[in-house]
Amino acid sequence: MDIIEKNKTRISRLAAKSPKLSKQVEDLDWDELRSALNECIFKKNDVGLPDEYGPASYFPLAPKNSEQEALYARAFKHGEDIIRAGKTAAFTVAGGQGTRLGYNGPKGTLPVSPIKKKPLFQLFGEQIRGMSQKYEVIIPWYIMCSPLNLEATSAHFKENNYYGLGEENIKFFAQGVIPATDFEGNLLLASQESLALSPNGHGGSLKALIDSGSVLDMAERGVEHISYFQVDNPLVSTINPLFMGLHALQKSDMSSRSLTKTGPYEKLGNFVSTDDRITIIEYSDLPEEKALEKDSDSQIKYRAGSPAIHILRRDFIEQFASGNIKLPFHRAEKKVSFVKDDGSLVTPNEPNAIKFETFVFDALPFAKCPLILEADRIEEFSPVKNMTGTDSLESSQADQSKRAHKWLAEAGYKTMESSVIEICPLSYPTALDLSEADLSDHDLSTNELYIGK
Ligand code: UTP
Repeated sequence: MDIIEKNKTRISRLAAKSPKLSKQVEDLDWDELRSALNECIFKKNDVGLPDEYGPASYFPLAPKNSEQEALYARAFKHGEDIIRAGKTAAFTVAGGQGTRLGYNGPKGTLPVSPIKKKPLFQLFGEQIRGMSQKYEVIIPWYIMCSPLNLEATSAHFKENNYYGLGEENIKFFAQGVIPATDFEGNLLLASQESLALSPNGHGGSLKALIDSGSVLDMAERGVEHISYFQVDNPLVSTINPLFMGLHALQKSDMSSRSLTKTGPYEKLGNFVSTDDRITIIEYSDLPEEKALEKDSDSQIKYRAGSPAIHILRRDFIEQFASGNIKLPFHRAEKKVSFVKDDGSLVTPNEPNAIKFETFVFDALPFAKCPLILEADRIEEFSPVKNMTGTDSLESSQADQSKRAHKWLAEAGYKTMESSVIEICPLSYPTALDLSEADLSDHDLSTNELYIGK
């Protein structure tokens, strides 16, 4: 029997005893599940690399000639004009389960700043408010949660008075879920009342933005460009005028920031180009000979890695409404506790299940005139994936302080090398704002230095 029919028969039999499970079976998109199983289990060795590709070109961090310098200056001004005109929105994907972090609560509520221990959501909220005040405009903020953390996330904002942004300017919504299966494609049950469901990946954000009415809300507000970032990166520039300006001048459907990889095997998606389109090849899928290829100046060729920071045009997202454009499913092998059909609980020690996820960067090949702008790692990227070690709370707090030292040095201030520094994003959302500040009322010689108005 076909695996879908087998699942239908088995789960329908169990659902006869549970109205909740019965409703889940009724709501389940079996065609979508069939695609996920086909793409991730029955064809799992096919990573779907393009036939021909090369490294994607990108705009460098620092303009490389006077022509580019003039373009960047024009783009910065254009970006500011777009922001001032209310054509931009911030968008955070916060529907992940944060299994590596192991924190009990939505990841965005994790205290992360080095001194004041502000949660991630507060850092973004303050920065967005800082930018709103600077440009005298409302910048609406859309936050995608999952059905598992939507309530806790909106409660957090309510408790914190929406970080001063106004309840009406923040919209929370849940992304879709998809059931997990065992390695053979059999659906797993979280309990006798429910399938084991998990969020369908950040690629689910495009459909969720449409289904939740967020895209319509954006249209009514006159928003044209959506600044996309992940919930775990406290250094992200939530709305970046230069990036916004370049994206708009090039009439790009979807633009991305890149980081120069630290080495050929750094675990970042690789930007590659195929004809006039850009796509990302996951680090695990880039063939070794490509990863090691070098330019004439001895730099690795595939050096543009993705920190998952994008701008998408609203009308580009609208194209996903018909459901005709489908993002591919990716396979993630995870440990998922489940109950057997007789109700006995199994808690695995090894990955036993497949979660199916779509990724937002798979929308890139559909984008016209895509553009990549290099970012400075210490300025833009230090994700909190784990509690300690690489990409952790610890490393991110150190990086937040390191960037604060850098901003102060660039603004002409001398600080103690050993001090921990935190800059309030509401007071100084960008380095430029800090460079114009008068900090004479701050004692810059303290061990813990908080810079804010
Ligand atoms: P990650 O890939 O780091 O996943 O998500 P995660 O679930 O947060 O963490 P782990 O892998 O379980 O430890 C990158 C970003 O995409 C969001 C996350 O919230 C994070 O901002 N995301 C991920 C979603 O919004 N939905 C998803 O289904 C998956």
